[in-house]
Amino acid sequence: MSSLQVTRGTRDILAPEIYCWQQLEATARQILSQAAYTEIRTPIFEATELFARGIGEATDIVGKEMYTFSDRGDRSLTLRPEGTAGVARSFIENKLFAQGGVQRLWYMGAMFRYERPQAGRQRQFHQLGVEVLGSADPRADAEAIAIASDFLRSVGLKDLVVDLNSVGSAEDRVEYRQALVDYFTPYVAELDQDSRDRLTRNPLRILDSKDKRTQEICQDAPSILNYLSAESQQHFEQVQTLLIDLKIAYRLNPRLVRGLDYYTRTAFEIQSNLLGAQSAVCGGGRYDRLISELGGADVPAVGWAIGLERLVILMQQVAEQKLSEIDFYVISRGEQAESKSLSIAQLFRQAGFCVELDLSGAKFDKQFKRASNANAKAAIVIGDSEVQMQQIQIKWLQSGEQEAIAIDDLSSAFEALKQKLSS
Ligand code: HAM
Repeated sequence: MSSLQVTRGTRDILAPEIYCWQQLEATARQILSQAAYTEIRTPIFEATELFARGIGEATDIVGKEMYTFSDRGDRSLTLRPEGTAGVARSFIENKLFAQGGVQRLWYMGAMFRYERPQAGRQRQFHQLGVEVLGSADPRADAEAIAIASDFLRSVGLKDLVVDLNSVGSAEDRVEYRQALVDYFTPYVAELDQDSRDRLTRNPLRILDSKDKRTQEICQDAPSILNYLSAESQQHFEQVQTLLIDLKIAYRLNPRLVRGLDYYTRTAFEIQSNLLGAQSAVCGGGRYDRLISELGGADVPAVGWAIGLERLVILMQQVAEQKLSEIDFYVISRGEQAESKSLSIAQLFRQAGFCVELDLSGAKFDKQFKRASNANAKAAIVIGDSEVQMQQIQIKWLQSGEQEAIAIDDLSSAFEALKQKLSS
């Protein structure tokens, strides 16, 4: 009998990776409760109709990616492909609107999409998400983006960029949709198959095609930004002013259309170029019509979700980069040399260098091997002869170049060493 294996697109999470998950879960709880968000847990499966109506029949998620099944009572159920629709349903059903004010909710859990698995893309994946219900104020959009970036920074990520767009209101989009159909129709034979299908059903999504020729055609497509009403335009400008005040770097991307139909006005993604093809670690935006379309009151809302698998990949890459940030690896052999090695390591640390001290007492060649495994830039070598001559040897591991520095001259040598490291 063949052994059983984990299902394609799903995976086990074991130590040491699990520590990364635990760290980000704890950080999420702390940052979100500090910003007055409360946790919500909704069911993992819901009526299929909720996702079909909420996310949109013409989206890839609903059309191709849902795990839908009939239960023993013949109800059509679906494993949640995302969290927003379930939160919206719960908000309406539990009459959270009646509590007044703004509801700031967060959730964390497994989501399911039948996609082609690759690095950072799975069939069972996890999201951390927030939904802010009850405010149309641009500050709600900017606050949500700020909380996402605070969280990502707190788990150690830098160099992320916010791609920002406004997809306008439903009314703004009627005219824009037609403009896109008019623009793409003469190119129909050159579009990829998916985009041809989208031409009538969901022309905005053509802008998101990964096909090379379609992307070229998209270059000159009309921009949504020319179809925004005065109110949508003003909202968008206010969100941008707030982001500038908050010193959150963003770039305008008028071709950013999200894969879910409920968005109105602000749409954004947070990208990392460390992620390759699956570069979005966070996606979100405003959805002012969803609650009313699902049968609730007219409640504007905004939110986002972060893909935790992608976040863990990024955190691991950052940890690896940190490892390779070791400047000097201190190698010593012999009783006197070993006792000197700690004070030398400390001198270098106090001068601002990143230093690892080898404590193994192993032979020099073994210690050199460890220095190169640690990705150190150079080894500080101290043997008995160095102790006698009151000096250290520095061996640059890439070039093999070696230099001796008298211990008394160290403080004046530090500046030159710094320059050498950064060159
Ligand atoms: P989404 O862009 O579909 O938005 O997903 C959000 C994030 O989930 C993505 O940026 C990505 O990091 C991660 N993700 C999506 N699909 C996969 C997958 N197959 N494997 C791994 N990670 C994945 C939403 O889901 C919206 N509900 C976000 C939102 C909340 N908008 C408003 N409120």
